[in-house]
Amino acid sequence: MARSCFTACALWGMACVAAAQLISDPGAAGPELELVHLYYDEFPTGIAVSSTGRRFSNYPPGLDANNTNDGTNGKYTVAELLPGNSETPFPNTTFNNPPGGAINYTVFPPVGANYQNYLIGVQSVVVDPADRLWILDTGRAQTDNGTLVPASYGGPKLIGVDLTTNQTFTTIVFPPDVAYPDSYLNDVRFDLRPNITSSGHGVAYITDSSTEGRNGIVTVDLGTGESWRHLDGDAVVRPERQFLAYVWGEPVYFIPGPGRPFTYLPFGSDGIALSADAETLFFGAVGSRYLYSIPTERLRDRSEASEVLAQSSVQSRGQKGVSDGFETDSNNIVYVGNMEQNAVSWYNPANATTGTFVRDPRINWVDTFATGADGYLYFTVNQLQLTQAFYPGTDRRVRPFALFRVPLPNGGTKVSSPE
Ligand SMILES: *[C@@H]1O[C@H](CO)[C@@H](O)[C@H](O)[C@H]1NC(C)=O
Ligand SMILES: *[C@@H]1O[C@H](CO)[C@@H](O)[C@H](O)[C@H]1NC(C)=O
Ligand SMILES: *[C@@H]1O[C@H](CO)[C@@H](O)[C@H](O)[C@H]1NC(C)=O
Ligand SMILES: *[C@@H]1O[C@H](CO)[C@@H](O)[C@H](O)[C@H]1NC(C)=O
Ligand SMILES: *[C@@H]1O[C@H](CO)[C@@H](O)[C@H](O)[C@H]1NC(C)=O
Ligand SMILES: *[C@@H]1O[C@H](CO)[C@@H](O)[C@H](O)[C@H]1NC(C)=O
Ligand SMILES: *[C@@H]1O[C@H](CO)[C@@H](O)[C@H](O)[C@H]1NC(C)=O
Repeated sequence: MARSCFTACALWGMACVAAAQLISDPGAAGPELELVHLYYDEFPTGIAVSSTGRRFSNYPPGLDANNTNDGTNGKYTVAELLPGNSETPFPNTTFNNPPGGAINYTVFPPVGANYQNYLIGVQSVVVDPADRLWILDTGRAQTDNGTLVPASYGGPKLIGVDLTTNQTFTTIVFPPDVAYPDSYLNDVRFDLRPNITSSGHGVAYITDSSTEGRNGIVTVDLGTGESWRHLDGDAVVRPERQFLAYVWGEPVYFIPGPGRPFTYLPFGSDGIALSADAETLFFGAVGSRYLYSIPTERLRDRSEASEVLAQSSVQSRGQKGVSDGFETDSNNIVYVGNMEQNAVSWYNPANATTGTFVRDPRINWVDTFATGADGYLYFTVNQLQLTQAFYPGTDRRVRPFALFRVPLPNGGTKVSSPE
């Protein structure tokens, strides 16, 4: 090769440098990725890791119609990950199998089923600082032709599971003016400080990433079950106009439904992480490279001026790249996916700086993070932008999907509950 290059160059009178002598992108940086689990069957988004190392994932039928249970085939939207890349429906098979399926076809157009006692379409699973598993149900699923049906009351809910018994201990159903039929409740974080509410059981903060425009942040009082929204429709929770990301060198356009023209990336507020002291919530839209934060007290406030106070208190932390989920560790470092760099990046609030934590050519859409008490950062890589909901509208994913982990730097670990 070098010889023929030399010949060609000599022939044309050009400077000739053999390809091997050129500096090139190393493609990898940071700690080695450790492969934890391969997903050969359903399409995962979330990952949650308990204090004893139990791992859970969820498989939203709102992103892949084949995650949808049709009432007969025993599929699941939440599973515990077991050795040997196997998965078992969690908390059990029945709870994952709504009678008649996740979609109510008795009305036209069809809607999400209204069961409060079954899982419909789960977008996130999170282990809180008290080691309980929380399941966030959007109440929505796709039909076979890729139409995302609206939710019915009863579908969108937050369910707590006691990991010592595998039994649910609470179900908080969202009213239709908190989870709108076209909301997409995406990810959740827990602030369990007893003194932040009069009911004393802490709160949850949830992003609404709806591709149909219903973006905002939901706060839930875990003691009373009440919930409310802030930052509704604010530019900081919305995708930016004409936002175009690139993954593995390809532009990412979205197809909003069967036979519809493609659009720019329409996903709103999705990634969410709490500072280690739980005083600050970080959030960002998938259709944006910006990281934003808000003092959590502004989200808990329900006073007359609370919405203008909330909008006035959002801070831009600058650009961090294109991300889906976020996570924070005990050193108060915020980890985010960086889709355009095949990377996981960090943001340090102490120096307002972002940087690359790990890069690897196998990273193809970092969906969701979890920190473990074992000092590892876990994250799913799920090829989301290769599903049929993205241009050119064909399913180009290649199984398996992956769960990786890397050790957190500087002795970082999962955040325990602040007092
Ligand atoms: C779902 O599975 C069926 C049968 O294997 C396949 O034909 C279809 O393409 C799959 N759809 C998606 C969105 O993966
Ligand atoms: C389906 O919709 C009908 C009409 O709204 C309602 O009566 C029924 O309870 C719904 N069933 C489920 C499982 O959502
Ligand atoms: C909880 O569920 C897991 C499987 O997901 C099972 O291995 C374990 O034995 C169950 N524990 C209890 C107490 O039922
Ligand atoms: C499945 O889990 C749910 C929620 O904990 C519980 O109500 C139900 O009894 C369980 N069903 C079976 C068959 O174990
Ligand atoms: C809750 O109590 C802690 C410890 O006493 C204190 O630092 C914090 O400011 C309190 N938070 C609120 C919202 O009152
Ligand atoms: C797709 O399915 C939905 C729900 O069944 C139906 O309302 C719609 O007409 C279908 N669209 C196309 C383009 O087939
Ligand atoms: C900011 O903090 C990060 C994480 O601790 C560190 O790696 C980086 O060197 C710091 N940068 C500056 C300019 O202090």
